[in-house]
Amino acid sequence: MNSWFDVGSISDIPRRGARCVTTGTMTVAVFRTADDKVFALEDKCPHRKGPLSQGIVHDGCVTCPLHNWVISLETGRAQGADEGETLSFPVRLEGDRILLSLMPQTAEAVIAAE
Ligand code: FES
Repeated sequence: MNSWFDVGSISDIPRRGARCVTTGTMTVAVFRTADDKVFALEDKCPHRKGPLSQGIVHDGCVTCPLHNWVISLETGRAQGADEGETLSFPVRLEGDRILLSLMPQTAEAVIAAE
């Protein structure tokens, strides 16, 4: 069963920015896009573990601040010629509250649900 955790208000995150939620074992970056959608990825680039929360959010992706890999916010997959993926987590808005599930989803599951 999926448990949802209230991790704050969307207004806590700047547009095109991110905020980190730390669990016992990992840090999850919750992103807000320019059009107020929210996404959640483990805060670890699939390349060399760069902090995606400090990257630039654009076009449904985040560009890693270390070596500029572009990661899909929806699937956690590296785009273009780069290969790898980081964990993505279900996240949704209820009013202005952000609800996060800590059950990671695979890119295949995200794509299959589309
Ligand atoms: S660590 Fe993210 S691009 Fe290298």
